[in-house]
Amino acid sequence: MINLIKTAQHHQLVIEKKANSLQGTISIPGDKSISHRALMLGAIASGETIIEGLLLGEDPCSTAQCFQAMGAKISELNSERVTVTGIGDKALQEPLNILDAGNSGTTMRLMLGLLASQPNKFFTVTGDDSLRSRPMARVIKPLAQMGALIYGRNNNQNAPLAVIGQNLKPIHYHSPVASAQVKSCILLAGLMTEGKTTVTEPFLSRDHSERMLRSFGATLEIDVDTHSVTIEGGAKLQGQTVIVPGDISSAAFWLVAGAITPNSELIIENVGINLTRTGILEALLMMNADITLENEREMAGEPVADLKVKSSKLKACSIEGAIIPRLIDEIPILAVAACFAEGTTIIKDAEELRVKESDRLAVMATELNKMGAKITELPDGLEITGGVTLKGAQMDSYTDHRIAMSLAIAGLNAEGTTIIDRAEAASVSYPTFVDTLIKITN
Ligand code: S3P
Repeated sequence: MINLIKTAQHHQLVIEKKANSLQGTISIPGDKSISHRALMLGAIASGETIIEGLLLGEDPCSTAQCFQAMGAKISELNSERVTVTGIGDKALQEPLNILDAGNSGTTMRLMLGLLASQPNKFFTVTGDDSLRSRPMARVIKPLAQMGALIYGRNNNQNAPLAVIGQNLKPIHYHSPVASAQVKSCILLAGLMTEGKTTVTEPFLSRDHSERMLRSFGATLEIDVDTHSVTIEGGAKLQGQTVIVPGDISSAAFWLVAGAITPNSELIIENVGINLTRTGILEALLMMNADITLENEREMAGEPVADLKVKSSKLKACSIEGAIIPRLIDEIPILAVAACFAEGTTIIKDAEELRVKESDRLAVMATELNKMGAKITELPDGLEITGGVTLKGAQMDSYTDHRIAMSLAIAGLNAEGTTIIDRAEAASVSYPTFVDTLIKITN
C-alpha cells in the first residue's frame, strides 16, 4: 500500500490508498536544533562532549563535517553515543577547503558567528541550491556591525561566502526577525568577543542555544519581557554530556496524522516540549485535537514527555503573532490539519516561511490544491477552508524535507493514489520517516 520507489537520482513515495487507521508507539529521531548545537559547542569546548540521541539526518552530518575540517575530532555518528573532542579555547583551524553546509541554514548561519570571530583566518562557505538562494544578509549585517569581514554573492546576501576572521567588538542588535538562527549566530560571535553582546528579537524564538551555552560554562543574562539575551565574551567552554530529546518538529507529523486519520491512536515517545517549541501542541489543542502529555520529565536541561494522540473532529483556528516562531517549522503540517478541520483556518505573520528550504507558503498551497484543497495564499500566510475531500495527486517535495513529509500525511488521508516526487528530502531531518509510516499504517 505504501511504496518507496528508488531510482538512481530520486525517491518516489507512492501511497496507494487512504489509511483505515494508524496505531502504534513511535520513537522519533533527535532534535535537529539541539543536535547542531551539541556538535558545535562540543567542537569549540575543551575536553570531551558526549552526545546521546544525536539526529542522524543529513543536516547534523553537514555540521559535523564542517567542524571536523576545522580541527574537532568527532567519532562515527550514531544515535547512541557520539564523542566530540573539542579544539579547546574556541580557536578553529583554518580549513584546507570550502566548508559545505549542504541544505542546512542552521549550520551556515550559526557557524558564521564563529568563523567571523577567528582573527586572521580565512574561510569559504557554501551549500546546496536551496541554501545558496537563502538570505544570509540577516546574519552578515549584524556581524559586520561587530567588525566582521564577510563577502558573498548578490552584494553580500548569498553563499558562497568568504570570511576573513577579525577581533570583533560587542554590539546590542535589535533583530527585525524572530529567528533563533540570527540570535544564535550573534551569541556565538559574542562568546568570542570581549565585553557584553546583546540580541533583542521581536518575539521569543527557540532558546536551545542559551540553555546549552550556559551548561557549557558561558555567562548569559536573559530578559524574557523584552526578548533580549546578553552574553559575556571570553568564557572558557568545557565539554559536557548532552542528551538530545526527540524532535517535536518530527513528532508533529504523527500528531496531525493521528488526529485526522479515523480510528487512530499513536504514542510518540520522548518528545522535547521546550516552551519555545510547543506552539504546535497549543494550535492542535485549539483545533480540538485529542492530545495528552504523559510521563513529563526533564532530560539534560530540556523538558520531555510522551505524547498520545487519538483521532478527533478538528475545527478551524487562527494562528498569528507571538505563537508563529514557536511553531514555525510545523506550519506545513498544520496546513494539512486545517484541510481536515471544519471552517476556515487563517495563518498570518508567517512570511518567514517564504525563505525556508523552499517557499513553504507557495508550495503548500500549490501542492495541496492539486489534491482538491481550498487554500488561498496570503502575502504572510494561508487561508485554508477545511472539510473538502482530498484526492490523490502527483506532487513534488521541492527538495524540502518538511514538505515531503507533510504531503505524505495528506496522501494518507486522500482518496486514490498519491505520489510524492523527490521524497528522499525527508532524510534531512527524518531518515526513518517512511519506515515508521509503513509500520503504523493499517
Ligand atoms: C532553527 C531555527 C529556525 C527553524 C530551523 C532551525 C535553529 O529557523 O526554522 O529549522 O535551529 O535555530 P529561523 O531561525 O530562521 O527561524
